[in-house]
Amino acid sequence: VTLYVPRDAAALAVGADAVANAIEQEAQQRGLSVDIVRNGSRGLLWLETLVEVATPDGRVAYGPVEPEDVAGLFEAGWLQGKAHALCHGQTEDIPYLKKQERLTFARVGITDPLSLHDYAAHGGLEGLRRALSMTPEQIVEEVTQSGLRGRGGAAFPAGIKWKTVLAAGGARKYIVCNADEGDSGTFSDRLLMEGDPYVLIEGMTIAGLAVGATSGYLYVRSEYPHAIAALQQAITRARDVGWLGKDIHGSGRTFDLEVRVGAGAYICGEETSLLESLEGKRGVVRAKPPLPAIKGLFGKPTVINNVITLASVPTILARGAAYYRDYGVGRSHGTLPFQLAGNLKQGGLVEKAFGLTLRELLYDYGGGSASGRPLRAVQVGGPLGAYLPESQWDVPLDYEAYQKISAMVGHGGLVAFDDTVDMAHMARYAMTFCAVESCGKCTPCRIGSTRGAEVIDKIRDGRQREQNVELLRDLCDTMLGGSLCALGGMTPYPVLSALNHFPEDFGVRAPADQ
Ligand code: NAI
Ligand code: SF4
Repeated sequence: VTLYVPRDAAALAVGADAVANAIEQEAQQRGLSVDIVRNGSRGLLWLETLVEVATPDGRVAYGPVEPEDVAGLFEAGWLQGKAHALCHGQTEDIPYLKKQERLTFARVGITDPLSLHDYAAHGGLEGLRRALSMTPEQIVEEVTQSGLRGRGGAAFPAGIKWKTVLAAGGARKYIVCNADEGDSGTFSDRLLMEGDPYVLIEGMTIAGLAVGATSGYLYVRSEYPHAIAALQQAITRARDVGWLGKDIHGSGRTFDLEVRVGAGAYICGEETSLLESLEGKRGVVRAKPPLPAIKGLFGKPTVINNVITLASVPTILARGAAYYRDYGVGRSHGTLPFQLAGNLKQGGLVEKAFGLTLRELLYDYGGGSASGRPLRAVQVGGPLGAYLPESQWDVPLDYEAYQKISAMVGHGGLVAFDDTVDMAHMARYAMTFCAVESCGKCTPCRIGSTRGAEVIDKIRDGRQREQNVELLRDLCDTMLGGSLCALGGMTPYPVLSALNHFPEDFGVRAPADQ
């Protein structure tokens, strides 16, 4: 009998290794032979450690399993998929999973992440095979037509970025994957790298073929040791089978990859700081232009994309641009892996087409607050994202619709808070986060963030409240307009949204009443 026990960091954090050991020991004692596959996580994080048992009718899910549950599960007949208090029936029928539209995460949690056999058996390499039969221009056109936009948060059309690099002259170009996932409450890059590293490698290989680059770098944050290990092992295996390093599967074209590990600075997720860091320098933002697409790593034309952007490419090539483009609404095509975190009963990953609402994510998937108290605010798009009050939870999740309400979808992370949250405290936190992580290159961010925290302190203490609120708005204006990069330029989003939607927490009236 085959059992699946995730090797994902989220599962390991709650004791997946101990569960796997307990299963092995219990099986041995009972004289049973079991085959344990260490898969990626299905993304139903509140059920980790989620153990799946392969039965003739499909996989049956049990979770959250603790080592001390294992003997009872054997007793109940889980190897035959029998009922137990921890049993959730067929994994694929769990509503949280069943209602998703998993394109990029299609294999995550299903395959053994490092098995090339599993990868190929589940549709892997189809996109690369097709790309190898196309010209660079055709590949770029396919990605452009798919409507894929940068999933790191800025939503710039990937095809246009690739076209710029393709058109740039020079013999040496690079593909860089931004895996410095620093947004609070986000984990889709990690889940993908640990659960299906080959899809990212395939996407980067296709990007190389598209723009004429023969080498690439994966810049992974040091906080992701399991992702780093998975990628390194996957790269070695891909080299062994003649995919990376030489002649791609005998096609006469080459591509190779290396992993580089960050050192814990949030700003190194900003693309130009990341390039500085890759070059061995301190991670400080470079002024744009020149764009990395023209003058990037070591001064050469560089495609720099987020993990999910690159990992979406194999599906687009395998199934065609129109297939991908048909998902979503407006100019937000395809799917986004939303990440549910904070005060929610059912935290996890939900890949869906753009256009669903926050309310659906919070209640249909998230199951409401974990505390049982009413939800009050949701921060969408990481620490630089706006806080949304309930009146905005029905706005469709679509880049343009969110822009209209001065919010951003970003990298798709959402952090929920119940009614005990103090929004003035959260606004102060945004300023201090900016102060701590600022690279120091420009004044509005370096100095403004510290002054911002001080002004919020005065407001909270009730000192010259109205004047200080005005000062805070002025400061936010300066940071918005005068910062060199998104860190200083977007910190006003959480601050102003907190102030505008939750003025009572600052002891002031709503802007409309003033
Ligand atoms: P941006 O809008 O300046 O650029 C987006 C991308 O498009 C960049 O790669 C840029 O080089 C490229 N680009 C722009 N014009 C181009 C052209 N004409 N031709 C070719 N390429 C072009 O945004 P930026 O500063 O790169 O990213 C800001 C975003 O990062 C924020 O909106 C936020 O959502 C996100 N973010 C994500 C984090 C994460 O952990 N994933 C953390 C912090 C911020
Ligand atoms: Fe550096 Fe902040 Fe300026 Fe960005 S906004 S360049 S992080 S000082």
